[in-house]
Amino acid sequence: MAGYILEITYIISVLLFMMGLKKLGHPQTAQKGNMQAAIGMGLAIVATLAFYTNSEGEGLGNFAWIAGGILIGTVVGWLSAKKIAMTEMPQMVSLFNGMGGACSALIGLLEFGPAIDSDVLIFAVVLGSLVVGTITFSGSMIAFAKLNGNLNKDIRLPYYNILNTIFMITIAGLVACLLLHNITDAVTWIYILFAISFVYGILFVIPIGGADMPVVISLLNSLSGIAAALAGFIYGNQVMIIGGILVGASGTILTIAMCEGMNRTLVSVVFGAFGAGGSTAVAEGDGSQGVVKETSASDTAVMMNYSKSVVMVPGYGLAVAQAQHIMSELQQLLEANGVDVKYAIHPVAGRMPGHMNVLLAEANVDYDLLVEMDDINPKFPTTDVVLIVGANDVVNPAANTDPSSPIYGMPILEVSQAAKIIIVKRSMATGYAGIQNELFFDDKTSMLFGDAKKVITDLVAEIKAM
Ligand code: TAP
Repeated sequence: MAGYILEITYIISVLLFMMGLKKLGHPQTAQKGNMQAAIGMGLAIVATLAFYTNSEGEGLGNFAWIAGGILIGTVVGWLSAKKIAMTEMPQMVSLFNGMGGACSALIGLLEFGPAIDSDVLIFAVVLGSLVVGTITFSGSMIAFAKLNGNLNKDIRLPYYNILNTIFMITIAGLVACLLLHNITDAVTWIYILFAISFVYGILFVIPIGGADMPVVISLLNSLSGIAAALAGFIYGNQVMIIGGILVGASGTILTIAMCEGMNRTLVSVVFGAFGAGGSTAVAEGDGSQGVVKETSASDTAVMMNYSKSVVMVPGYGLAVAQAQHIMSELQQLLEANGVDVKYAIHPVAGRMPGHMNVLLAEANVDYDLLVEMDDINPKFPTTDVVLIVGANDVVNPAANTDPSSPIYGMPILEVSQAAKIIIVKRSMATGYAGIQNELFFDDKTSMLFGDAKKVITDLVAEIKAM
């Protein structure tokens, strides 16, 4: 009976996961989707604790330990999720990925003993969970340190691509030897496999920097799902298997979307042959290519207010300044004065997938006003004013024109087609990729220097005073 209840609860949990995942596809339903998936996971945990029995009919024990773990995890997770700033979300995602990987690695380490002499398939799954989980854990910790600013340099060891490939082949060879029982003292070798996988995770992420980080984060996300699914196979637990596959598959789809957004191929990601030459930091104002025109809030306000169409381009600086609410007020004010206003959303604007969508949804911006890059690009030639707020790399024409640029080939918002471009940022400093932007020197461009929140507040005040 208990077995049936458990199976039925698992089916309900899986349905909740899938419905939740579907709802995550749209900002208006995302919160509800997140809650549904969390309820699904909660149900699965409670049902497992209450109804799980092994082949001998014994239920779970060690409830005090399990309750302690759940309590600590819940408090730490809850507090950090409450405290984290929106701009620090990618670090948080990296940490979550890493923790998922660590769980699978620990399961692999705990379960290899009984698995060595059992079914070869189970042993393969245990080793898979150990290897993928460990790589995900150490790789995610490096990604966390990089995104958090603790590790600012992209460290490239000599011949790092060859080195990484050797590590990959060694891991594959060791797994094959263990499976074929070609190794005596397998227990020692499993710990060696763990150590090599750990080092490989570090070597895999450490050379990567600049504009390539989002690809790595979503790849690690999908790896954490694969590791969880493999761990689920060890216990024959359907919820872990399906939950892991859902994370693995959605992470892979996101990785591919990110690759397209950043013009990277998945093969170059997997073999670590990317990021080289990218993100060389340029000193502020370095590489100036002409004269920069400055404008004022009052001139900009007049120009926007008397335009027919305005496109706003939000970027990372909007998130830093937390200017989304005042930006939404500006949009409503312009609309009330008869201006057609849209937001142009680049797929990798900000520091995480969907960053701008989340930010603008927080300010209750009507979702229909957010136009994706491919749809807004043909509209720029008929746009009167483009207001770029804290965005830089995603509007950098070097992606189209300079083959030596690290972002060459990355699709960008073609703002230079518009009649007038206003760029709001605090200085001439570069963006994430560390490269100068020739758009700042374009004849049609005027710079409106200042913190985004302050500048847009001024624009709103000016328009209200008209
Ligand atoms: P960036 O190119 O990073 O440019 C942001 C600009 O905002 C900076 O040049 C900065 O100039 C300005 N800024 C910062 N704080 C500001 C403030 N308080 N007020 C006004 N301006 C401020 O941003 P982007 O155009 O959104 O491009 C995103 C970049 O991040 C891309 O290279 C992308 O590949 C990379 N990336 C994306 C992701 C994802 S998935 N979205 C993840 C990791 C990396 P000042 O300092 O002069 O103000």
